[in-house]
This record gives sequence, structure tokens and C-alpha cells, in this order.
Amino acid sequence: MQLEGDAGTNASMGVNHDHDRSPGRIQESVSQAGFSVAIGNTQERYRCAASSTLLAGMEALARRGIPVGCRGGGCGVCKVLIESGTVRTEKMSRSHVSIQEQAEGYVLACRAYPQSDVSLKAVDKLARCIERSQARSPFLEAALATAARSRAA
Ligand code: FES
Repeated sequence: MQLEGDAGTNASMGVNHDHDRSPGRIQESVSQAGFSVAIGNTQERYRCAASSTLLAGMEALARRGIPVGCRGGGCGVCKVLIESGTVRTEKMSRSHVSIQEQAEGYVLACRAYPQSDVSLKAVDKLARCIERSQARSPFLEAALATAARSRAA
């Protein structure tokens, strides 16, 4: 895991220097744009461009359970632990991510941009929200079982 400091620039990372412009190659580059981000809590994976925050990419999954926060590094609701990979961070509230925590890999997803493939783990409120939303309610389980029985009959 590697963190790059506040508002640093990293112009060379994530830039495609491949000069092969054949149609198949261009399509492959478009479909593989961005980095792979794995969410350890839910085993989900999404693509996130170096110019997008980890939170924006997570929201693009269009799943329930992503809490709406300030998106500016102030409320702390989007705290994650970067388990592997490199991210560039912008200014974050020290009341939510201390210098010690940041050194350990904690960041606010709304202030972190992937610079490589990343594995992260949601912590605190974000973890509770996404893990709870992934669990199916007993009512949904019963409805799905009823639907499966009626299809089989
Ligand atoms: S959404 Fe508020 S700190 Fe990230």
C-alpha cells in the first residue's frame, strides 16, 4: 500500500503510452479504462479512473448502502483502509483521519484517487452501511423462495 501526499501531482501514472491504434486495441483500452478497485467487505469490484475519487467510483456501482456524505473530506463517513495499491489523497479532516491512521493506510474515499489497482476495506459507518445493505432481509428471502417454488411447480 502506498499513499501519495496531499494534492500531489502524478502526471505520468495512469497514462497510456501504448501507440498501437488498431481498432481492437483501442476498444480494449477503452473497456479497461481506470483501475480495478476491490471492496474487501463485499467482494465487489469496480473500475475507477485516476481522475475520480474512490467514493465516486463506488457510487457508480449504483448499489444501496453508499451513504451520502459531504464529499469534501469533512464528515468522515467514507473512511476506508487501503490494503494494497497506491492512491493520491487530497486534504482530509484530521478529526476523522489522524496522521497516524493515514500512515497506516486509512483515507477518506471522497479525497482519494487511485493510482494503481487498489484493494480497500470500508471501515466504521461505511462498513456498517454496505455490509447491512448486502444482507438480504428475511422477507426478501421468503419472497424469493416462494417465487422459486411457483416457478418449479
Ligand atoms: S463524504 Fe464526507 S468525508 Fe467523505
